[in-house]
Formats: sequence, C-alpha cells, structure tokens
Amino acid sequence: TDGIDLAVVAGDGIGTEVVEQGLAVLEAALAPSGTKLSTTEFDLGARRWHATGETLTDEDLERIKGQDAILLGAIGDPSVPSGVLERGLLLKLRFALDHYVNLRPTRLFEGVTSPLADPGEIDFVVVREGTEGPYVGNGGALRVGTPAEIATEVSVNTAFGVERVVRDAFARASARPRKHLTLVHKHNVLVHAGHLWRRTVEAVNAEFPDVTTDYLHVDAATIFLTTNPSRFDVIVTDNLFGDILTDQAAAISGGIGLAASANINPDRTAPSMFEPVHGSAPDIAGQGKADPTATILSVALLLDHLGYTQESVRVQDAVAADLAERGDVVRTTDQVGRDIAARVTG
Ligand code: IPM
Ligand code: MN
Repeated sequence: TDGIDLAVVAGDGIGTEVVEQGLAVLEAALAPSGTKLSTTEFDLGARRWHATGETLTDEDLERIKGQDAILLGAIGDPSVPSGVLERGLLLKLRFALDHYVNLRPTRLFEGVTSPLADPGEIDFVVVREGTEGPYVGNGGALRVGTPAEIATEVSVNTAFGVERVVRDAFARASARPRKHLTLVHKHNVLVHAGHLWRRTVEAVNAEFPDVTTDYLHVDAATIFLTTNPSRFDVIVTDNLFGDILTDQAAAISGGIGLAASANINPDRTAPSMFEPVHGSAPDIAGQGKADPTATILSVALLLDHLGYTQESVRVQDAVAADLAERGDVVRTTDQVGRDIAARVTG
C-alpha cells in the first residue's frame, strides 16, 4: 500500500513528549516524497491500567498487527507494581510480534561528550536477542516470604531462536566495513546456553566467511566497553546481557537521551517496533526537558526498516549536524525536535 500506517504508543511519563517530536521529524522526512503517514494512537500504559485493569488486550494486539510499524515512547510508572506493564505490555508486544532482533546502534556523535577520557571512535551495534533468555518468564517461587523461599528464573535458549538471531547479526556484520562480530556470553558458568551460542556462531560463520569473530565473557565485555569501545563492530548476545550492555553502551556515547532501538521482526510476519532505550523518567515528566533525540534516531531506524533509506539517512544526518553544533547545549524537548525537523526539511 501507499504510505505508512503507524501505531503510536506514547505510553507513560516522558513518552508522550518525545513521541510528539519523533512524529514531527517523521512528517518532515516524508513530506518531500508526498508519502502519506496515517497514525493510530493506542491508549496503553499506566493510565489505561488504572482505569480498566488492562495492559494489552487481544483486541489491541490484533489492531496493532494490522499496522506497518509501531512507534513507542516509554512504558512504566511508579504507581503501577513493578513488572505489570513491563511484562504485560512491553514484553508482550516484543514476544507476540516476534521481535527477535533487538537492534541497538551505538555511536559517539561529534559534539557529544563521552564520560570516557579517551573514548576513541565509537560506532558499533548490539544485536540483542529479543524473545528468549530469562525474559521468557520461565521460573517461579516457593514458600514466598518465608526463610525457606526459593526463587528461580530460567533462561530459555532454543537452537531455532539462537540461530536466527546469530544469522541476522552475521548479515549485519557482513554489510559493515569492518565485518567483525563479537559473541558475548558467559559460557564458563552458563555452560548449557553458552555452548549452544558458541557452536551456533561457529556454524553460521561458514555462511559468512568474510566476517571475523571473537568471543568475550560478559564481565570482560564491560571492561572493554569502558577501556576500548572502538574494538567493537557488531555484538551479538542474549536478551539479558544485551539489556545490560546497551545501557552501558548508551552511557559511554552520551547517555540514554541519545540511545535508539528497534525491535525487529526480520521475517515481517508482524510490524516491528521502534523505541528509545530510555524509560518513562517520571522524575522529569511534564517539564519539557526530556531529550527526544533517542526517539528521533529510532524514527530513522523505522524509516530504514520500511525501505525509506534516503529519508532515514536524512534524519540521521540532521541529528548528527544538530549534535555537532549544539550537542552539549541544554534545550527543551520541543526545541530539539524543531531544530532537527528544520534540518530534515532543509
Ligand atoms: C529496555 C528496558 C526493558 C527491557 C524493560 C523496561 C522491560 O530495560 O528496553 O532495555 O528490559 O528490555
Ligand atoms: Mn534496558
């Protein structure tokens, strides 16, 4: 079909503010080609849960499945018990729509100050598995609240699930100039899952002989992310390690205000979802000071995924130019959105 049908889930806290700017930039990017953008807002998150007790109904899910993509702001609020919206809404979307590639690019833009004294060039992408690992929710508790309590969280790793995400990571590495892939795991302790990941990387490497690989235990990976982040090109890792490493990746490259992500269904059996890595930040919500750049960079990932390559590059270039000129200047949410949209329009 012509144009883009976009599901918009602004969500909680600063989600509404950053999504508004993301949409403004998306409109600006699509204007020259006359591409029609039809947005459908979904009332999901803390407000809806308080009002109805619902997180994400089957009906919501069916309607979302009919869209081309999802733009999500942030989910979570201190007034809702921890885990209710995370599991019942955000992770439910990722699992139900089979977002097995959680793509998190990290780049230290010119004009942005890294907390590292000597960051060097930072330009890598984390391919975080999105539908397995401890996030599956396979576990339980016995004798809760007693001194004999036992709590388990089981990490689920299937040959099918590991292979498909590893293949995707190889393909991305193969398309990049440095063609290097680092597997991050902890196979000296997590031997069952660790060896499955290691064997899979070895096997799939045969399909991508141009890609070099190496391996790091996750604890060592955190050291190198601090001491020598330029050694990384593509990182492939499981859901939980990827969650942790991408917050560190954001921190070394200017903070979570700049960190974009894509939850991709590479088989296109359902819409992919684009969201900033950051959360709803209730402490600064409503003050107009959230940085919408992470959402705007997520919009660039959205455009790229839907095949609007030129438009995606335009948005990325606009962000890069904006940061190069004003990266360390404190601006309001709308100001940043306006500045970037103006550069996109040209
Ligand atoms: C993220 C977030 C989520 C995750 C939470 C909110 C469930 O931290 O997108 O990184 O752990 O994946
Ligand atoms: Mn996270």
